[in-house]
Amino acid sequence: MIASIILAAGIGKRMYSKTPKVLHKIAGREIVKYAIDSVKPNSDVTVVVISESIPRELFDNLVIAYQNVPLGTGDAVQKGLESIANIDDSSQVIVTTGDNPLLTADDIKRFINFHNANGNDISLLTAIADDPSGLGRTVRDGAVFTKIVEEADATEEEKAIKEINTGVYIFSKGVLLKAIRKISNNNAQGEYYITDVLSILRKNAKIGVKTLERRLPVYGVNNRYELSLAAGVIKNEILKNHMLNGVTIMNPETVSIDYGVEVGRDVTILPGAILEGHTQIGGGAMIGPYTRIIDSVIGSRTLVQMSVVLNSLIGEDCTIGPFSYVRPENILARKVKIGTFVEVKKSRFNENTKVPHLSYIGDATVGKNVNIGAGTITCNFSGLEESKKNPTYIEDNAFIGSHSTLVAPLVIKRNGYIAAGSVVTEEVPEDALAIGRTKQVNKEGWVKRRKLSNDKGSTEP
Ligand code: UD1
Ligand code: CA
Repeated sequence: MIASIILAAGIGKRMYSKTPKVLHKIAGREIVKYAIDSVKPNSDVTVVVISESIPRELFDNLVIAYQNVPLGTGDAVQKGLESIANIDDSSQVIVTTGDNPLLTADDIKRFINFHNANGNDISLLTAIADDPSGLGRTVRDGAVFTKIVEEADATEEEKAIKEINTGVYIFSKGVLLKAIRKISNNNAQGEYYITDVLSILRKNAKIGVKTLERRLPVYGVNNRYELSLAAGVIKNEILKNHMLNGVTIMNPETVSIDYGVEVGRDVTILPGAILEGHTQIGGGAMIGPYTRIIDSVIGSRTLVQMSVVLNSLIGEDCTIGPFSYVRPENILARKVKIGTFVEVKKSRFNENTKVPHLSYIGDATVGKNVNIGAGTITCNFSGLEESKKNPTYIEDNAFIGSHSTLVAPLVIKRNGYIAAGSVVTEEVPEDALAIGRTKQVNKEGWVKRRKLSNDKGSTEP
């Protein structure tokens, strides 16, 4: 039996944040979840130790243990152990920290193999850090492990040690239970350190130290700079995987794709594209430059440039932008065009409909083959009925002339035709022309007469 305990209850003082440290996100996902990924596939039972400020709903299928006062990693491990009191003492317990998102399931698997191959009671995973500051140092006597010393408790000589404690251990449960009762908080930080278990057991247990084969830029995210270093690694990995799966990404250093975003084959992603949340991009689409898409589906071969798209379903072969604002809850069928300086909200657009320029369309249901001229506004909000928004229905093949004001609630029937510059307040019947503007008056000769009277009034010679 292998149990894992992920320590995630600390506050993360060095983040200077209202958000608990392990809930800070990389590529749209909490860092603790990456840490869980590294141990869960290697464990029969996975425990996460959290504080009450962390919602337990984040952790499906995990055992939750609470540590409400952060008394240190040793105390946190103890709380985790209480939740697996029923498992056998011969079980192995992997302990890891919730703030290391860069260790992988492979790293942990190799570590378990090392533990088993050597018949250890305790194994410790160390690493070589170019800059070990802030981390626990691995003190050895020659090659033999002596102890882990925290930076706050370290001598100058110890601070120079570059072999650090990654915060990952494997213990034989019975051995851990006995030793953990003996740790004290008699140290510079007044905390119970899990690392003290190692020095307590040094003489009575078989302790093995494995050094991580690869070097990571950070072994525990303690501040926002380290968060950005870890993010760099994870985001590059995400981009690399998309590229290996047939996505072209230009200037990848300017592109950001969240964990879990799906991108089809032959998609081209141009500089400055940001794809977030539950987003899916269909094959052959072109996204960017400078585009942000959140929680949306983009159909195959659709082009989205210099635009923001939120929580919407965009069909195949559509064109969005440049400079469109697609707000939440739009549904676009195939071949729809939302063009330059167009804002759409909570609207449906059927096949082949176009809103090419300078319009606001909100709470509208628009049929097929509709052309909405430049400067069209759906007046969906009266300002008199709290936040109520009134709907506009525009049926198939309608033509909305430029600069039309559509005062909702309103229906424009099939083939309805709105003259440019109209203010439309009443239903437009099928095949009808609606003109809602004052009739033009031409005053013959007005300009000449005006110039003449100007000349008479002039004081110039
Ligand atoms: C710890 C190790 C250090 C190691 C480093 C690796 C100890 C004493 N030190 O230091 O040797 O090099 O990790 O990253 O273990 N946590 C709790 N409850 C607490 C305190 C912490 O759950 O009371 C959790 C935190 O949420 C965090 C993890 O444990 O995810 C590590 O805590 P942190 O305070 O970051 O420990 P470090 O000082 O980095
Ligand atoms: Ca840490």
